[in-house]
Amino acid sequence: MAKARATVFFCKECGYESAKWMGQCPGCREWNTFVEAPTAKKASPARGLGAGSAGTGAAMERRPQKLSEIQSAMEARMSTGMEELDRVLGGGLVGGSLILVGGDPGIGKSTLLLQVCRNLAESGHKILYISGEESLSQIKLRADRLGTFSGELSFLCETSLELISDVIIEERPEAVVIDSIQTMYREDAGTAPGSVGQVRESTNTLLQLAKGNDITIFIVGHVTKEGTVAGPRMLEHMVDTVLYFEGERNASYRILRGVKNRFGSTNEIGVFEMRGDGLAEVPNPSEYMLSGKPVGASGSVTACSMEGTRPVLLEIQALVCRTNFGMPRRTAAGTDYNRVNLLIAVLEKRAGLRLSDCDAYVNIAGGLKVNEPSLDLGIVMALASSHRDIPVDDSMMVFGEVGLSGEVRAVSMVEKRVQEAAKLGFTSCVLPRVCLGRIQEPPAGLKLIGVGNVQEAIDLIAR
Ligand code: TYD
Ligand code: MG
Repeated sequence: MAKARATVFFCKECGYESAKWMGQCPGCREWNTFVEAPTAKKASPARGLGAGSAGTGAAMERRPQKLSEIQSAMEARMSTGMEELDRVLGGGLVGGSLILVGGDPGIGKSTLLLQVCRNLAESGHKILYISGEESLSQIKLRADRLGTFSGELSFLCETSLELISDVIIEERPEAVVIDSIQTMYREDAGTAPGSVGQVRESTNTLLQLAKGNDITIFIVGHVTKEGTVAGPRMLEHMVDTVLYFEGERNASYRILRGVKNRFGSTNEIGVFEMRGDGLAEVPNPSEYMLSGKPVGASGSVTACSMEGTRPVLLEIQALVCRTNFGMPRRTAAGTDYNRVNLLIAVLEKRAGLRLSDCDAYVNIAGGLKVNEPSLDLGIVMALASSHRDIPVDDSMMVFGEVGLSGEVRAVSMVEKRVQEAAKLGFTSCVLPRVCLGRIQEPPAGLKLIGVGNVQEAIDLIAR
């Protein structure tokens, strides 16, 4: 019995783990993909060791300690030279931490980390970049695009973790990049690189290296079809910080999002733009998102979404036209399709707009994906504006949640949104009336228009 419980099986297609063998994988529905993890029994003591030293930085200390006796290791932070990244990390790199950078292939993870390495080396740190995916000449090609490099930055193409451990212990760098975890392998783990067992064992080795030698290690992880870093989320539990690098491949902006952070908040995002010479920071995302907004066009509304603690202004576009076929077509790009349908129904019922014989297309310009209720009012006004073919005032910003009775409900962080609108030169702001009282100091030059329901809001759209 005890033996059966210790054995772990996993699906070699999607990494689904189970205590017993199964013919069909419940995760990916493939047949005959379950294999026994050969390291399951060996893994336990190794994991115990790792967990023992994790987070404390002092593996030798076995005696329980009072809070006042523990020395805080979190004070010294290394700046990555990129403000956007430092903010997501909670104020810079913590020594001895393990950071997972996940994202789709080709999104720019290697580019980002190469730039971080360059900045760190320039400010006098010793850095090692280990690639299991690219040859040294490929790395050089990329580096040439990024500009000049100086300081103690060295490169190694290697996939064997035993060798990598030796090199790290010998070279003693302050930070190491492992690109990517899916290419790394430990011979004693038995399975192929990229499999669940290998990824777990490799991460474990890196965890012990990081904690035992006070080295900051970045791990690159490709995201699988299912949207998790392979294997199934278990990597996330082992590391200190998980960052996801996302964005549309055909749009040039990229968002770095903190998903887990033992040393800071996960509310922050960093915005970058992929250029010909690498990633550039975008310190003012609102301006970036609104560049190219048409002037005097119907169906275009500026709304405000909160990305972490940062307000980002964006453009909502709607196009409403008569349907040529029996069934009206509705699409939503960048926001929730069902939410758009619901808002169309609210407009129809509560504001008397006849949309049932119209096609309606809603789009968040710039390729951002936002599912925040505060966009509701913007979507509603964009739809009404397009339906009437009357533009919404270009210097107006709109936010608020819409309820099923057509009421406009309060949203969070009102003051921040209002200030962002004022900062970017908007002269009026439509917001839930209940939120008006929450604004202590209304910014000068910004007219606040409180609305109680959808009808009041769309009455503002007039020539
Ligand atoms: P890369 O960092 O290799 O992605 P990942 O490591 O996440 O797989 O980035 C790949 C893409 O970035 C590639 O399509 C080319 C583009 N790119 C630029 O547009 N500008 C640049 O300066 C660099 C280095 C890459
Ligand atoms: Mg890469």
